[in-house]
Amino acid sequence: MRMLMVLLALLASLPALAVTVASPDGRLVASVDLDGDGRPMWSATRDGKPLVLPSRLGFILGDAPKLDRGLAIVAERRASNDSRWEQPWGERRFVRDHYNELTVTLAEKAGLQRRYDLVMRVHDDGLGFRSGFPDQPNLKTLRIVAELTEFHVADAAGGKAWWIPALEWNREEYLYHATGITEVGLAQTPLTLRTGAGTWLSIHEAALVDYAGMNLQPAGDGLFRAQLTPAGLGPAVTRNSPFFTPWRTLMVADSAPGLANSSLILNLNEPNRLGDVSWVHPCKYTGIWWGMHLDQQSWSSGPKHGATTANALKMIDFAAANTFCGVLIEGWNIGWDGNWFGDGWDFSFTKPYPDFDMARITAYGRKRGVGLIGHHETAGNLLNYEAQMAAAFDYDRANGINTVKTGYVADAGQLQVAAATPGFGTDGKPHDISFEWHEGQASARHHVKVLEEAARRQVSIVSHEPIKDTGLRRTYPNWLSREGARGMEFNAWGNPNNGPEHEATLAFTRLLAGPMDYTPGIVSLMGRGQRIPSTLAKQLALYITIYSPVQMAADLPENYAKAPAALRFIRSVPVDWQESITLAGQPGSHVVTARQDRAGNDWWLGAAGGKTAVDVSVPLAFLGPGRWRAEIWRDGAAADTNPFDMVVEQRDVTAASSLALRLASGGGGAAVHFKRVGGQ
Ligand code: NOJ
Ligand code: CA
Repeated sequence: MRMLMVLLALLASLPALAVTVASPDGRLVASVDLDGDGRPMWSATRDGKPLVLPSRLGFILGDAPKLDRGLAIVAERRASNDSRWEQPWGERRFVRDHYNELTVTLAEKAGLQRRYDLVMRVHDDGLGFRSGFPDQPNLKTLRIVAELTEFHVADAAGGKAWWIPALEWNREEYLYHATGITEVGLAQTPLTLRTGAGTWLSIHEAALVDYAGMNLQPAGDGLFRAQLTPAGLGPAVTRNSPFFTPWRTLMVADSAPGLANSSLILNLNEPNRLGDVSWVHPCKYTGIWWGMHLDQQSWSSGPKHGATTANALKMIDFAAANTFCGVLIEGWNIGWDGNWFGDGWDFSFTKPYPDFDMARITAYGRKRGVGLIGHHETAGNLLNYEAQMAAAFDYDRANGINTVKTGYVADAGQLQVAAATPGFGTDGKPHDISFEWHEGQASARHHVKVLEEAARRQVSIVSHEPIKDTGLRRTYPNWLSREGARGMEFNAWGNPNNGPEHEATLAFTRLLAGPMDYTPGIVSLMGRGQRIPSTLAKQLALYITIYSPVQMAADLPENYAKAPAALRFIRSVPVDWQESITLAGQPGSHVVTARQDRAGNDWWLGAAGGKTAVDVSVPLAFLGPGRWRAEIWRDGAAADTNPFDMVVEQRDVTAASSLALRLASGGGGAAVHFKRVGGQ
């Protein structure tokens, strides 16, 4: 008996055995374990080999003992799912959600006896885990100063990383670094890695709701520690239980295209919360926009003012002639005069400049079947915006504006938000302002508030200088698109421009998070006096390689008039897809993506190259049976030195064919439209 007691006591003092959960195909296995001090850890293997070495979990709280050790696994639950759901719009219509899930309840063995659930969900294409805090007496309000979550990537030596810095002034608008894994600095997510063993990974998060965004602080040898985006005042996150943290995600693939084909982030988000969203319209649009970035027009009033009634009517004609459904007009509203991004207090979202006749313009647009895309540049002043938001979306709805582009131009860490005890002074301005990061909890809250206010008026949102994309378009399908990376505007400004590799890098980095409003189609290939690092054919390819349900024909109408073959492509390319398949590519080198039109059977293919020329041979197995005619817009033989050299030609192909394409140096590309011409 005594022997048995001793044995039991010994067993109880040993760390618990790891609990594991495998992906449906069995290749990816995640484990949850505790070390000898009762500290929770997670790890993962793929094909039986280490993929993520034991990595810590836990939380540091501002006003309570840290929640990181002395824990035991007191319960364990399992679930599995294999279902298919439909997107109202998207890069693919149907998404398979196939996973095995393990939930362990971790509880403190002594002291406050606090507890939380760790949910580990493993798909074939990656995993996600999150912490769920039930309501309990000793964890009513969590003031989370730090999350101890780690990702200790195995085989870091000899691996490679594509990343942009976190907590830097220009938010997400940096060129990507391509370095060894061990040379990464404090990085934003998604962070793309190719391990020394050749496995492709993307570390990110899903469903960032009312929480601070996660950055990654490297600690050597492939170890990355979560670093929550700070709050302006107080802890990074303040939440009352019950709640779940966002999912911490790891996409896993054998190739870079494998990452691009994953639906992990969408699958980990909650289903549509808005009900009938038939009022959300994917759309191609044009606008009064590029002229400002070229400095030919101004947002502010005066002789160069772009948003005049006359210009707006002309743009509506241009849009109607090319079947674009929207016209974005920036600089339409009071507030752009002077230093508009100084503090954003001057912006009105309901008062047009006197030379912009909203009623006349929208009436004309209605007649021609073209809607305005509204514009709310906040200059990062969330206080001023939120105070006007309801009136602003009422105004939009009254004017038939069903999509609004928002903007948050302010240096990182300078969003103005109401501090804990807000109140308005006699000058009408709030007393207490805190300065927040674009990726912080206050910003996460703000974006959801915008979506909800907009949805009440059947308005959709395209955000610039946004919080990062974590797949919330599934829950709020009126979040059509966003920027959140260097867009085409940098090619207008130069100093430096985006470089020829940027879009081929985006495909395997930023775009893993979701759609981007890149604003392609600059057929003049000219910024403010300097060449854009792209061939003409690549400007067309971008409509396919960069997924967005709203795509801009961003150049000036007079430039399109000089490029009829390119305009014909832009006019006809769809923005909503039945299926999407990234077929080939590597960050910075090239990307080849095929998409099937959601409104028909046609397939479209885009190939965007990088600095050096690439020859790709694309198997067309994605085409259905029958004979197909391929219309190809591709780099001509002289495109390396003359980026305007574009050949438009036709070829007859079948699913058994391969298409050989040469993407020129300096940012070459090709775009293809496949139409079935016979057989089934
Ligand atoms: C930056 C946005 O990215 C750009 O599209 C917009 O024109 C300016 N802000 C002004 O709002
Ligand atoms: Ca921007």
